[in-house]
Amino acid sequence: MNKHRSLGVHPRVPLKALYLFMIGFILFASPANLFSSPRTNDDLIETSCVGEDQGAQRILVAYDTIHGSTAEVADHIGAELCARGFTVDIRFVGNVSSLEDYDAVIIGSAIYEFNWLPDARRFVRHHYATLASKPVAVFIVCSAMYQDTPESRDAVQKAFVSPLLNRYPAISPLSIGLFGGAVDFNINRYNLFEKFVLRILGKVLGFTDSADWRDWEYISEWAQEVGDLVE
Ligand SMILES: Cc1cc2nc3c(=O)[nH]c(=O)nc-3n(C[C@H](O)[C@H](O)[C@H](O)COP(=O)(O)O)c2cc1C
Repeated sequence: MNKHRSLGVHPRVPLKALYLFMIGFILFASPANLFSSPRTNDDLIETSCVGEDQGAQRILVAYDTIHGSTAEVADHIGAELCARGFTVDIRFVGNVSSLEDYDAVIIGSAIYEFNWLPDARRFVRHHYATLASKPVAVFIVCSAMYQDTPESRDAVQKAFVSPLLNRYPAISPLSIGLFGGAVDFNINRYNLFEKFVLRILGKVLGFTDSADWRDWEYISEWAQEVGDLVE
């Protein structure tokens, strides 16, 4: 006697369910979903300041983040430029509709799975023509810069910056900021996949615990350099 029928379960049902589960999982696990940014609105920072001079140049700092460390870097850069008298908007890339009002644009993204976040890439693609005609600076935040050495700079530049710039050759950044990021092994907001990737990343790069590699002094210096170049 058919074992499945005796249990009242059609023999094909479990297989179909398995297929559906697999398709659902693949859709859910696609990078666009897993790395949709930001994870919560608490991870966003959006502020503005108005420069003291009537004719102050207007700078946009547009960034993409999942867990907020890149938003804090963008905020820090913006604060440096505000203090210099620029008019600055700090915005999540997904909330920027036009670049027309800006004299210069700073674009930043966290690196996930060896790439810029999807919304940051969309931002560059969508605004390519305008970005090609304005002063632009670029920064990335990643764990591969946990040690700032000529070797790590070279590797990060080749792996995470050059591919994007090669794709959009009319963008020629005034400066490129390569910054260490932050990882939190205890954070409840990391999903299982992120925790898994982080463990592998930790093994490859040699870290096993939560860490914050952001060098605020260096980030300030970089912001000042960009300010000098825009002025
Ligand atoms: C799931 C996951 C994948 C990551 N992938 C990379 C990577 O491929 N290369 C890298 O250098 N850093 C990687 N990182 C480190 C992040 O870039 C770093 O933690 C960054 O500060 C996160 O920025 P955010 O807080 O703005 O989202 C990864 C982190 C996580 C959690």
